[in-house]
Amino acid sequence: MHPTSHDLPKASRAAMVALLNANLATTLDLALQAKYAHWNVKGPSFIALHELFDQVHTAAMTMADTMAERVTALGGTAGGTARIVAASSALKEYRLKAAGGAEHVKALAAAIAGLAKPVRNAIDAAAQAGDAGTSDLFTGASRELDKLLWLVEAHG
Ligand SMILES: [Fe+2]
Repeated sequence: MHPTSHDLPKASRAAMVALLNANLATTLDLALQAKYAHWNVKGPSFIALHELFDQVHTAAMTMADTMAERVTALGGTAGGTARIVAASSALKEYRLKAAGGAEHVKALAAAIAGLAKPVRNAIDAAAQAGDAGTSDLFTGASRELDKLLWLVEAHG
């Protein structure tokens, strides 16, 4: 942990840094899986899904940036390299053989849900650690992920 005048106890900040970094890795994984879907989807709904999957990517990258900057605001180091993400993400590998729109919708919906669950759990974990700011960050991310899941599943 880096020195800071932040008033939360160091142990609480360290716990939040770990919680944020775990979800940062999963969020970056989701962002890349959304690009995989964006690039590789084919079929009659191509343009709608191609654009929707890019919207998921953009939203995930925005969320990742917010998590990473909360890590550094708390005195931590944001872990966002490809190797850290691969080692720490809670997601399974994307369904690489997915071809048609329906298969990509199912695969990306599973990835969004795979992040939504730990993010929802993190809301209470942060609140219990006395960090309302981090809890609020996860609340916003959770609401965004619920919306993204709806947008993707509505194409199924
Ligand atoms: Fe593109």
